[in-house]
Amino acid sequence: MTLVDIFTLVVLCTSVEVIGSRLSVSGNHFMLNGEHVFLSGGNLPWIQYAYDFGNNQWAGVKTSMENEMKLLRDAGGNTLRLWIHIQGESSPQFDLNGYVTATDRDGTFIDDFKDMLDLAQSYDILVIPTLWNAAVPQDFENRLNGLIVNPEKLASYIQVVLNPLVQAVKAHPALAAWDVFNEPEGMLDTEVSDLDQCFDTTALNDSGAGWAGKKYNYQQILRFVNWQVDAIKQEDPEALVTVGVWNAKSSTDNFHLANHYSDDCLIKAGNKSLGVLDFYEFHSYSWKCEFDHLAPFKHQWKDYGISKPILIGEFNQMEGGGWTTNQLFDYVYKDGYAGALSWDLVNNGTDQRAGIAFIKNYTGNGKIDIDI
Ligand SMILES: *[C@@H]1O[C@H](CO)[C@@H](O)[C@H](O)[C@H]1NC(C)=O
Ligand SMILES: *[C@@H]1O[C@H](CO)[C@@H](O)[C@H](O)[C@H]1NC(C)=O
Ligand SMILES: *[C@@H]1O[C@H](CO)[C@@H](O)[C@H](O)[C@H]1NC(C)=O
Ligand SMILES: *[C@@H]1O[C@H](CO)[C@@H](O)[C@H](O)[C@H]1NC(C)=O
Repeated sequence: MTLVDIFTLVVLCTSVEVIGSRLSVSGNHFMLNGEHVFLSGGNLPWIQYAYDFGNNQWAGVKTSMENEMKLLRDAGGNTLRLWIHIQGESSPQFDLNGYVTATDRDGTFIDDFKDMLDLAQSYDILVIPTLWNAAVPQDFENRLNGLIVNPEKLASYIQVVLNPLVQAVKAHPALAAWDVFNEPEGMLDTEVSDLDQCFDTTALNDSGAGWAGKKYNYQQILRFVNWQVDAIKQEDPEALVTVGVWNAKSSTDNFHLANHYSDDCLIKAGNKSLGVLDFYEFHSYSWKCEFDHLAPFKHQWKDYGISKPILIGEFNQMEGGGWTTNQLFDYVYKDGYAGALSWDLVNNGTDQRAGIAFIKNYTGNGKIDIDI
């Protein structure tokens, strides 16, 4: 090798390193700083349920949140999923008719959120904020409910909260992706017959969907998602967006089912062309110690016929089909999925961080040790 060759080699090697890039999607996986990464970690998911951000609440939970970030980093994890509005208990601020008038009563919400991301970055932790939740029937004030059923109320949320929030945190290195809605199928009406398979839910009757009340059809749920994703993408085209569904059953065209979250279905429901998902997020729990036949632990990424990455965003040993935490993390890493987040770190962190530590040196499906 001549001196010129060595020089060329050095230049080539340094030029492929892209420091400071954001999380992005490539094929069935994530990329960060020019490298394939696997998201490994857990759901925090809150310190004070629905009262972590806004109204000066962050100051009171920051120390606990920092402790969770430190423990996760020490275990070798890189990603946290964190719940934000939930059903609108303390943010955003609604008027008496259910229109959104402010981020929160005291106006600290956006600063709180930014400070959380800065803190996560200091531990090299990526955050997936989960905005809303349909897994429990606690919306007694018709806060979230109004945003789902009334497009004008949803528009008020987007204008008053989502647009300024995304603008304030876009390009933040610790912001991995937005998860717009946790388990919408908790409140899905599973008895809707429709000629359009995007909106027909009869195949999900007796699937378990609708456990928190059969309140919404897919036109409403998908519009709610499509509009928020579109707003995020308009403000920040590089942002990644997903929805954490309770089971793969809602999100595949295989197995005689329909992928309700396809680009086509989302745009049909909301009419907004940017409002499509960058990756899918499946949750999976066993029932009576058995995983259902669509569970990610019985399949590989490619079986669902989806051309985007799939993150396994909730699972645990307690409802893990008799598998150990280590086996669950090991399986997700090795079967083509893009990441593994257990449920949950606050109540069961010792057990789950052991699984995170178990796979921290794995290679072959992306590196886990990241620097942001
Ligand atoms: C859905 O399931 C419920 C409970 O099993 C049943 O009563 C109902 O008739 C089913 N609806 C449809 C549309 O199949
Ligand atoms: C989408 O556009 C169609 C046709 O213009 C219209 O009928 C429908 O109400 C629109 N839907 C939404 C959610 O805006
Ligand atoms: C934590 O996980 C272990 C193992 O799955 C389980 O036995 C235990 O009940 C869990 N504890 C809590 C508080 O969830
Ligand atoms: C991971 O690699 C580090 C550094 O080589 C080593 O100290 C550690 O024991 C390994 N951990 C596991 C769980 O393999």
